Amino acid sequence: MPVSENRPGVTARAPAKVNLLLQVGPLRDDGFHDLVTVFQAVSLHEDVTATPADTWGITVEGAGGTDVSGVPLDGRNLALRAARLLAERAGVEEPVHLHVRKEVPVAGGMAGGSADAAAALVACDALWQLRTGLDGLAALGADLGSDVPFGLHGRTAVGTGRGEQLVPVLTRGAFHWVFVLDDTGLSTPRVFAECDRQRGPGWTGPGADGRLEAVEAALRDGDPRALAAALSNDLADAACALAPQLTRTLDAGRAAGALGAVVSGSGPTVALLAESATAARDVAAVLAPVVGEGRLRTASGPAVGARVLEAVA
Ligand code: C5P
Repeated sequence: MPVSENRPGVTARAPAKVNLLLQVGPLRDDGFHDLVTVFQAVSLHEDVTATPADTWGITVEGAGGTDVSGVPLDGRNLALRAARLLAERAGVEEPVHLHVRKEVPVAGGMAGGSADAAAALVACDALWQLRTGLDGLAALGADLGSDVPFGLHGRTAVGTGRGEQLVPVLTRGAFHWVFVLDDTGLSTPRVFAECDRQRGPGWTGPGADGRLEAVEAALRDGDPRALAAALSNDLADAACALAPQLTRTLDAGRAAGALGAVVSGSGPTVALLAESATAARDVAAVLAPVVGEGRLRTASGPAVGARVLEAVA
């Protein structure tokens, strides 16, 4: 495909996620853990604009106070890796410049990097007119990271395997969240390793314990109180061991009127579930003097998966 001069860029948007349930199985031979998780996409977004360029490149901008200083701008960047992988698999020889506008906390357990990759795949697929389709992009995305397929699909889904095998979950209505960001990032591999360490070598698995069914029933009923009671995360103890201030944040969230509080993914973001949009704003208002307004984000879920937003001139 020839490089077409002055062709407009394409912007795609992908959502952050919170894990309503994160059940972690034993360490596998490939270094991953089998998961049973329930993802919900929420209304914090990453926007990625792909524009034809002479060489591959990326710029990153923080939106709404997001600190982007920890985002790599070289070959490690997940959005850039996604664009190059799609080009390679589709036989496209047309470099792009990616501009990423980040609203999702970096290294926060909300899959911001995976959302960048999902949005980059959708933007480049549209720019190059490949029509790969959601399943094809999700298969590519799984090679980039366990959470990328969910960033493409969005809404609410049960994830198994590494988290990349998805089945949609029936949900009713919207759920309202307050996210408390932390100043420090947590490395996902470190949190999984700490979880293994805490469990010890003889640990064989969580077994069937009804947690998934409880989350599914609460979602089906659109019942935030039942969902709050069913939230659980097997990585929470490990995240709290590595970042002890999270225990205080969870307590502060409950004391501020949240129905439930859970560490998001591998942390350190804490997710607080509220009864309604108004209640979420109230929880944030109570927490603002305690944790600082800059650390709070309100959002709702489920949000849709990665999609093209607009063609920019
Ligand atoms: O797939 P992703 O790149 O997000 O994974 C980052 C790291 O998190 C993996 O290298 C692994 O250490 C850990 N991980 C895991 N089990 C999973 C997903 C991630 O152990 N299901």
